Amino acid sequence: MSRVVIVSNRVAVPKGAATAGGLAVALLGAMREAGGLWFGWGGETHPADTPQPPPDPQLRDGHTFVTISIPAALHEPYYDGFANGTLWPLFHYFVDNFRYQDEHYDAYLAVNALFARELSPLLAPDDLIWVHDYHLIPLAARLRAQGVRTPIGFFLHIPFPTFEVLRALPVHREILDALLAYDLLGFQTETDRQAFLGAARAVYGADRVSAGTVVRTAERLVRTGVYPVGVDLEATARSAAKTVASGHVRDMTKGLVGRRLIIGVDRLDYSKGLLERFDAYQQFLEECPQHRGKVTYLQIAPLGRQNVKAYARMRRALEQSAGSTNGRFAEVDWTPIRYLNRSFSHATLLGFLRLAQVCLVTPLRDGMNLVAKEFIAAQDPANPGVLVLSDRAGAANEMTDALIVNPYDRRGIARALKQALDMPLDERRARHAKLLAALRENDIHAWRSRFVANLGGAPEQARLEYAAR
Ligand code: G6P
Repeated sequence: MSRVVIVSNRVAVPKGAATAGGLAVALLGAMREAGGLWFGWGGETHPADTPQPPPDPQLRDGHTFVTISIPAALHEPYYDGFANGTLWPLFHYFVDNFRYQDEHYDAYLAVNALFARELSPLLAPDDLIWVHDYHLIPLAARLRAQGVRTPIGFFLHIPFPTFEVLRALPVHREILDALLAYDLLGFQTETDRQAFLGAARAVYGADRVSAGTVVRTAERLVRTGVYPVGVDLEATARSAAKTVASGHVRDMTKGLVGRRLIIGVDRLDYSKGLLERFDAYQQFLEECPQHRGKVTYLQIAPLGRQNVKAYARMRRALEQSAGSTNGRFAEVDWTPIRYLNRSFSHATLLGFLRLAQVCLVTPLRDGMNLVAKEFIAAQDPANPGVLVLSDRAGAANEMTDALIVNPYDRRGIARALKQALDMPLDERRARHAKLLAALRENDIHAWRSRFVANLGGAPEQARLEYAAR
């Protein structure tokens, strides 16, 4: 069995007793099967005029993690600039937040070249390389330039935009060329894959895309696949049930003083639809006086990417909005919204999710959204809560038994909130059971093993699919 080498911008090196997130656990599982390696940025930068420090290998629980430092002068234009100022907004269809600068793209390429230079000496000829996410699109081309011949797969965790949006990017052709240096391209949904194939048709010609799945280049046949990322149902349920009685979760329950809990857990990001959600909650309080004082909406929104202007703007707008709802509706003994920018351990978040009667997952656009899946996995099946889910999250494809909403429709969300809180136990149980069954079909283990198996057979399979066109 080939070794699996995982490459991502951030590396989830297990630290002490801290629980890793679901995705990290799954990737650790992929490495465990054949003694793998996880390679990426360790969170450090160094002055550009000092030599590149050697990669830092660490052995944890039988897994090897190798992290590198990035020159300080490159990090900001690479991460805040191109990855999160250019690709993130464009791929999420936020054309207004999209910015492009050649210097940012140059830094992005330079960081990918650095990753390739530092990684290639660590590779063996029969390794399978699995690259994750939009930070590292050019990595395969850079590895090929270093002489790497082994299969390289890429999984995009975020949406892929249709060509009409993608073409706003001056270097869209370069980005597509870079994707075609992989053997296997994985997307969250069929919509994302079709958007990519549509872009490939538009740029290279329809004859280069065959049977709707394979793209032909001079060097290779590139296979595409849909791999909706899932969760580990058992581990999530166990962890959620275990933490409800401990630390922060117990304190939170005490603070509720018997009120029902509506929860949202999102990284603070304009793609998450938080402003619309806050407005919808205010509308709900207006329209449903019977629920005032009886519910608490806890929104956890850890900060990140604060150097990107759009994030700082969003943060101010949310503070104002939460303040105005609380100012208008709060009583001396009731705060309608509890809005927290701090982060919690993954286990603590699962404990919060288990205790909530309603979970609001209303992104304006999202590759998948694992909180939606974790909420269902964390619930008590005997008395489950209700998921209100945006039709624009990848998860909505599988989770059709949630209350599906348009995330821009404040009135619709307010109505769904009321429906969720008033839903009888029988209906809650029936919906929850169907959602669990859907998640079981495609859990995190299935996601990982399908991708790794397809990557191993990618060149051969692509030939077969191409021949059958
Ligand atoms: C979200 C996205 C991932 C992405 C990650 C990067 O979780 O869904 O696709 O890789 O953000 O987060 P960071 O905090 O490193 O910017």
